[in-house]
Amino acid sequence: MRAGPKILAIESSCDETACAVVEGLQVRASVVASQVAIHAAYGGVVPELASRHHLTAAVPVLRAALVQAGLQLHELDALAVTEGPGLVGALLVGVQMAQGLALATGLPLHGIHHMEGHLLSPFLGDHATAARDFVPHLALSVSGGHSELVLVEGLARYQVLGSTRDDAAGEAFDKVAKLLGLGYPGGPVIDRLAREGDPQAIAFPRAMLDRQRFEFSFSGLKTAVAVHLQQHGQPSSRAALADLCASFQAAVVDVLVMKARLARRKFGCVAMTIVGGVSANHGLREAMAAAARQDGFELWTPELRYCGDNAAMIAAAAALRVQAGLAPGVRVFASGAIDEVRR
Ligand code: KG4
Ligand code: ZN
Repeated sequence: MRAGPKILAIESSCDETACAVVEGLQVRASVVASQVAIHAAYGGVVPELASRHHLTAAVPVLRAALVQAGLQLHELDALAVTEGPGLVGALLVGVQMAQGLALATGLPLHGIHHMEGHLLSPFLGDHATAARDFVPHLALSVSGGHSELVLVEGLARYQVLGSTRDDAAGEAFDKVAKLLGLGYPGGPVIDRLAREGDPQAIAFPRAMLDRQRFEFSFSGLKTAVAVHLQQHGQPSSRAALADLCASFQAAVVDVLVMKARLARRKFGCVAMTIVGGVSANHGLREAMAAAARQDGFELWTPELRYCGDNAAMIAAAAALRVQAGLAPGVRVFASGAIDEVRR
């Protein structure tokens, strides 16, 4: 995309306080203050603590983003903020700050659905990568709170083909890591260990459900890991731990890739994306790249720095909305489902 509107976005839906500035789909600044170390001690995100830390991080993160972009507030064209879904107390910090900025500057404020940001993250460009023109595609959206296959027919035209019936993919990683005493968040550490292990060491179940539908279920797999640990005890060596991680990860990846391939064939999409925190997973990226070569489709994944929560993806969504002539405004979602997002 050529130069577009200059937009500053704030993201505070969970445990990252983030601020970014884009020009169209080109990232000029992206600052993320992660609270992972704070929540790790509790084995998961503590909402009250998240809100408090957003409050202290918000202004310094905003200042840092403006300095990195080399811009002042009056040089921007619009503001954006994650309006949901997420932790209410955490979202409030970002939304209130953005509304205050909008009031003070007179700039329009675009509320952005968090998952819409993730959906657009593979299209971002920055100092190291070129932006990609937005085209209709199929998205596998996998994070700590979501696992769904979304037909992205256009901007703000999202059709959910299927989602998880129970745990999200990232949640399964986090819960299994907890069972193994590997700390929070579980995805990155399981991913690292899995690279050393044998994915065929333990035959964990693959819940394919109905093959004509695109729903997922991961709670049975988590239970299978718990039962395995009850029967065999905790892995006694790093090699045994790596085998267990590799076997668990392979079960998650197999299901995600299988369902995504079925959906792509059924809907005839020429391109697919993987987005959300779990899109950083090496096993998933490699398996989907192999599927893309075999089935002949384009695969676009976000750069690793835009897989987890960040504000660049929120700013990019707003930039596309501005270019499409959509009106600003912050909304309240009833369910938080991505198909509630309208033009
Ligand atoms: O998108 P995200 O940062 O936050 C949400 O919107 O939920 O996703 C966080 C999730 C966590 O469950 C984390 O364990 C998972 O993404 N994750 C990974 C990896 N990196 C983060 N899962 C598997 N492999 C990874 N490398
Ligand atoms: Zn996210």
